[in-house]
Amino acid sequence: MSADTEKRAAAEASALLVQDGMRVGLGTGSTVAFLLPALAARGLRGLRCVATSVATERRARELGLPVEPFDALERLDIAIDGADQVAPDRWVVKGGGGAHTREKAVAAAADRFVVIVSADKVVDALHPPVPIEVLRFGAAATLHRLPGAVVREGWPPSPDGGIICDLHAPTDDPAALAARLSAATGVVEHGLFPPGLISDVLVARGADVSSL
Ligand code: A5P
Repeated sequence: MSADTEKRAAAEASALLVQDGMRVGLGTGSTVAFLLPALAARGLRGLRCVATSVATERRARELGLPVEPFDALERLDIAIDGADQVAPDRWVVKGGGGAHTREKAVAAAADRFVVIVSADKVVDALHPPVPIEVLRFGAAATLHRLPGAVVREGWPPSPDGGIICDLHAPTDDPAALAARLSAATGVVEHGLFPPGLISDVLVARGADVSSL
């Protein structure tokens, strides 16, 4: 079974978790690309959606999903997003598409954050790199203090002006690394998502979808 088939299966399962009137955070990436039409096809009433990227916002609008700025909504009922790696203890790496800052902001605002993945995203242990977004102001100095951090070549700045980088550092203690990155001045956000942020992980293996 191809990864795309599994992404679609996980995405379609997650779309069933959304109900009329919910405030919904829409993630970014190729798995979410299957979520958007599945959600639109449900024809739910009264949805209020926020998007974690320009690409997601554009596609959601094309499909008739109502997207609004993430300025006025204090809470979301649910957010659904893909991931690059999911470990058995539910530490997750995100940001392969450079959208992890907005994705984490949306996830943190959601009562329920659902991660949807194909089976190839499940790893025995997290591995580098970990995406990071760095404040443009003083970026050289910030990166100098982060051995192993490299600017992602050819990538545009994030919608918030940050520089997308990848950190090649050991990930055997994700909590310690996450704490170090969260405390690093000039790092806007990193792509390590802790288990406490994650409500459900839906993994598709072939056509079967199960919770991790
Ligand atoms: C975007 O920056 C990422 O966090 C994506 O959510 C993640 O890379 C998963 O993307 P795919 O669904 O395309 O694999």
